[in-house]
Amino acid sequence: MLSAFATAVLFLTSYLYYHYHVGSVSFQGEGLVRPIYFAILISHTTLAVAIVPLALVTLYRALREDFTRHRRIARWTLPLWLYVSVTGIVVYLMLYQL
Ligand code: HEM
Repeated sequence: MLSAFATAVLFLTSYLYYHYHVGSVSFQGEGLVRPIYFAILISHTTLAVAIVPLALVTLYRALREDFTRHRRIARWTLPLWLYVSVTGIVVYLMLYQL
C-alpha cells in the first residue's frame, strides 16, 4: 500500500507537470460515446479529488496502528481508489487512442 501510494504521488506529479505544459486536451468523439466519456470523466475526477484526503487518513490510521478505524475508512478508500485507477486508464484510452 505504501508502494501504491508512492506510485500515485509520482504519477500525480508527472500528470500536473505534463498538463502545466500541454494544457487540456479536448475529446474528439461524436455521438453516444460523448456523454459516456463525460460521465466517466466527471465521476473519475470527482472521486480522484476525494481520494487524496481518504488515502491520507487511511494511511495515517494504519501507521498509528489504529487498525479498527483504519478498517472502517479503508472499506471506502480501496474500492474508490480502484474505481479511480481503472477509469483513469479508460479516460486515457478514450481520449488518446479512440
Ligand atoms: C491507503 C492505503 C491503504 C489502503 C487503501 C488499505 C486498505 C485496507 C483494507 C481494504 C483492509 C481490510 C478492511 C476490512 O477488513 O474490511 C485493510 C486492513 C488492514 N490494513 Fe490496510 N490499507 C492501507 C494501508 C495500510 C498500511 C500502510 C498498513 C500497515 C501499516 C496497513 C495495515 C492493515 C492491517 C494490519 C489491516 C487488518 C486490520 C484488522 O483486520 O484488524 N494498511 N487495509
